[in-house]
Parts: sequence; structure tokens; C-alpha cells
Amino acid sequence: MTKRNEVDELVRLREKAHEGGGPERIKKHHAKGRKTARERVALLLDEGSFEEFDMFKTHRCHHFDMEKQEYLGDGVVTGYGTIQGRLVYVFSQDFTVFGGALSETFAEKVCKIMDMAVKNGAPVIGLNDSGGARIQEGIESLAGYTDIFLRNVTSSGVVPQLSGIFGPCAGGAVYSPALTDFTVMVKKNSYMFLTGPKVVKAVTHEEVDTDSLGGAGVHTAKSGVAHLAAESEEQAIDFLKDIFSYIPQNNMETAPFVPTNDPLNRFDPDLDKIIPENPNEAYDIKDVIYRTVDDGKLLEIQPDYAPNLVVGFARYGGISVGVVANQPKFLAGVLDIDSSVKGARFVRFCDAFNIPVVTFVDVPGFLPGTVQEHGGVIRNGAKILYAYAEATVPKVTVITRKAYGGAYCVMSSKHLRGDINYAWPTAEIAVMGAKGATEVLYARDIKEHEGDKAEFLKAKEQEYAENFANPYIAAKRGYVDDIILPNRTRFRIIRALTMLKDKRDSNPPKKHGNIPL
Ligand code: HXC
Repeated sequence: MTKRNEVDELVRLREKAHEGGGPERIKKHHAKGRKTARERVALLLDEGSFEEFDMFKTHRCHHFDMEKQEYLGDGVVTGYGTIQGRLVYVFSQDFTVFGGALSETFAEKVCKIMDMAVKNGAPVIGLNDSGGARIQEGIESLAGYTDIFLRNVTSSGVVPQLSGIFGPCAGGAVYSPALTDFTVMVKKNSYMFLTGPKVVKAVTHEEVDTDSLGGAGVHTAKSGVAHLAAESEEQAIDFLKDIFSYIPQNNMETAPFVPTNDPLNRFDPDLDKIIPENPNEAYDIKDVIYRTVDDGKLLEIQPDYAPNLVVGFARYGGISVGVVANQPKFLAGVLDIDSSVKGARFVRFCDAFNIPVVTFVDVPGFLPGTVQEHGGVIRNGAKILYAYAEATVPKVTVITRKAYGGAYCVMSSKHLRGDINYAWPTAEIAVMGAKGATEVLYARDIKEHEGDKAEFLKAKEQEYAENFANPYIAAKRGYVDDIILPNRTRFRIIRALTMLKDKRDSNPPKKHGNIPL
């Protein structure tokens, strides 16, 4: 071969690799409204930044006539590139090659970039579209998956790992994303299940379609497996990029500082009126968040799962933070099993990656009842307590209204090493609400007031509320650092975060804690 022919041959092979499972399969794939692995990578990364590895790698399977079915790259596109100039490692599964199913060599490609990500301290984004372990390979593909799982776990808390789910993902293709930090799904075209409807029917006789078994709606609202549901692949990619913008490269760095034109001392008089007169009336805590963060921008995570707790990313004066807030609009903002798990996982992510946590508290307590008790609210509620207690990142807390009982302790209180704890003048910090407290305290007296029971209780409730349901007792003891004007909340949070910029705190040396799982 002349030199020229060698170059032509390389060009031909590269073009062939770009064809994935072939034009017919790509056509079929496009017809379903889905993009190819390479098209997704192109959407994700800065233009021209992608450097691909292992384009010529092929499988080594000798069963089922697999020698006759070789595809360059073996069903996964891997490499690195940049998003807004920041390094990121990426793998993108190619459904047109054996349904994106994972082989031994496919796994080697993914492991290679995962190892590089840890070595070089950059996030990994996986674009998943795969039928799981490649059935023709059997144990080798299982081994390959397990090699990936191991890396998911050892990288956890070292570099951020994000997953996009772009097709019908099964088996290992869902367990690996489950081990990553955030998972984004596409509505209608993406599914996650360990076993598909056919196997479900064979084993349990249950008839269920793919969407009801593992669609984006199921996983973002019911199971909590996924964090965001996108309307389209483009939007899913945008969500991944948006999350990426708030998080650092690795656990040794802080998230990018993004300067803002939103004035740091922007006072918002409407916040002074946001708490309703009636203590049982709801308001939307997101209004408080939108009014205080930079440019009113909150990237809410898991908006449809346990909406009684809002979690998400935002910035205060350019500093990236994780916001956690009880939501009085749903279940009066109670903490329950699902919201505790949701909050705990989010706080732990922020702590692992040096992202300060800003907490807004308006919580009447933990949800009582057999459903919660039998479901393990003690064990699960302990998770959010644990997460806040172990977190050493800057923790700034604002109590807007109720902070009752155990929920007061849990929600980033001073006692759990909250750095700066503020209360609005409307805060009610007490062991329980006035109604519950008076019923317990005056149980005996109530008997003597059969005739005027309602008036008697009302008077006692008022007395209790005046004496205990306020922020001043906590402020006297230093459990809150100041009682602040609601309109100045943004300014005070930014000042606190700025003061805490170089905070140093740590936990005693240990192999790892034992969070109640
Ligand atoms: C090899 C596979 C495959 C697999 C799909 N294909 N899954 N090849 N191994 N696991 C191939 C098909 O043969 C087909 O090839 C092409 O991919 C497209 O698949 P279709 O079935 O035509 O597509 P669709 O109807 O969209 O259904 C997608 C699917 C379904 C829901 C993913 O293919 C499916 O149920 N696959 C099996 C899922 C599964 O049980 N995987 C093993 C999990 S065990 P052609 O040549 O026609 O294009 C596992 C263990 C890991 O992962 C450990 C976990 C802890």
C-alpha cells in the first residue's frame, strides 16, 4: 500500500465506525425519534472538542456466529471533550449495535475513560441506550458490567457522575446509572427496568407495558430512581449540562463561580408579606427561593418526587449552592420517608463535592401514622439527620415559619453544626405546634372545661403560641444567630456564604460511617 492508500483506508474505517450498526438500523432508530450515540455526544460537548478513544475496538465473542457480526467500536462511543470549556469524560451507548448491549470489550472502553476521569479529576457523563449485558457473551459481559459497577462505586464522591437515559435500558444498563449521582430520562422514549415486560409476564404473570413499568414518569415521580424527565433528547442533554454547570470537577475543587448582575444587596419587600396570617395556610417556598437566588434561577432536582421537600441547585452572589427547603404547599411541608431520603442523598452529594447547602425551614414535623412507621420512617428519617450532621460544607439555614420537634433538629439546625442559622420574625421554633401542645399539657384541665372546652383550648393555644411559637427563645440561647428581616434574606445569605468561603471542618478519622440505609 502506498502512503496515500493507507490514509484513505483510515478515512474509510473511520467512516465505517461512524455508521454504527449500519444505515438501515440508524434509519430505524431515527424513525423512533431517537438520536444516534454520536449525535448525542455532539449535542453534549463543545463543538469540535471531542477526542474519541478505541474507535477500532471490536468484540472477542466466538459464539452464535458473532465472528460474522463485527462493528468497529463495538457499540459504544467513548472519549473526552469539554462543556463550556471544562473537561468531561463521556461514553455514549450505540443502540444500533446489538441494541447497545454490553460486551467484554465495550466494558473495557467504558472502564478506560472512568479510570482516566478519576486520575485527571473530571466528571463522567454516561449516555445510556442499551439492552444490558450482551446475551451472546454471557459471563464475560456480566464481568464487564461488574467492572463498571466497581468503578461507579470507587469514583463516587471523587468525581461527579451523571447519567442520561435515552432508550429502553435494562439490566446492567440501569444498575450503573443507579450508582451515579444524577439520572436524567427522556419522556416517552426511555425506560429503565431490570427485566422488561416479557420477562415480568413470564415470571410473575403480571401484564404491564414498558412505560408503566419503567418510564420517565414512574422513575421521576414514584420510584425516585431518576431525577429529571425531559420532553426531548435535546432537553435531556441541556439538563445534564445545566447540572454540570453547578458542580465542580472533582472532590478537591469547588464549583465554578459565575458572576452575576443581580445585585447582592437586592432587598425584596414582598418577602415581608409572604407568610400568611393563618399559620395553617400554605405558601410556595419556591417563591422564597426564586426571590433570593441569583437571577431567580433554581435548577430543581426531583421536582416530581416527594414534592414536600424542594431540592435543587442555585447560586447566591455567584456561589453555587444546593438548596433544600420544606414545601408548605405539599403535605404542609412535613418530612416523611421519601422526602427524607431525597434530602439526604442531595445533601450528601453537595457535601462530597464542596457545594454549600442553604436550607429553608418550614416544617410541622415528621408525618405520623402506621404507613410511615411501618415503612420505616425512623430509619429513613434518620438519613437526612445523618446527612446534615456529617456534612462539613458551609451550611446556612433560614427558618421562615414552623420548625417543630424532631424536624427542627434535623433541618440543618445549629446543633448539627449549622454554621449560620437565621430566623424570620414569623418563625415558630418549638417542640410542637400550639394545638398539639395544649391538648397534651391541659388534658386534665380540659375535663373541667367541658362547657367551654373550645374557648378554653383556644385561649391556651394562643398563650402557648405567644410564649413559645416564636424565634426569640431560640435567639436568646444562640440557637439562631439572628432574627432577620425577610426582605434582606438574599443579602444575609450571600454575606454568610462569603464569610464561610474558606471554612475548614472535618469528621473524626474513620473508614466510613454507617448511615442507616
Ligand atoms: C444482545 C441485544 C440485547 C442484549 C437487545 N439486543 N438487547 N443483543 N444482548 N441484551 C438486540 C436485539 O437482538 C436487536 O438486534 C437489537 O438489539 C434491538 O433490539 P429490539 O428487541 O429489536 O429492540 P426493542 O424492541 O426496542 O427492545 C429493546 C429491549 C429488548 C427492551 C432492550 O431488546 C430487550 O428486552 N432486550 C433484552 C434485555 C435484557 O434482558 N438484557 C439482559 C439483562 S441482564 P437486531 O439485530 O435485530 O438489530 C444484565 C445483567 C447485568 O444486564 C447485571 C445486573 C446487576
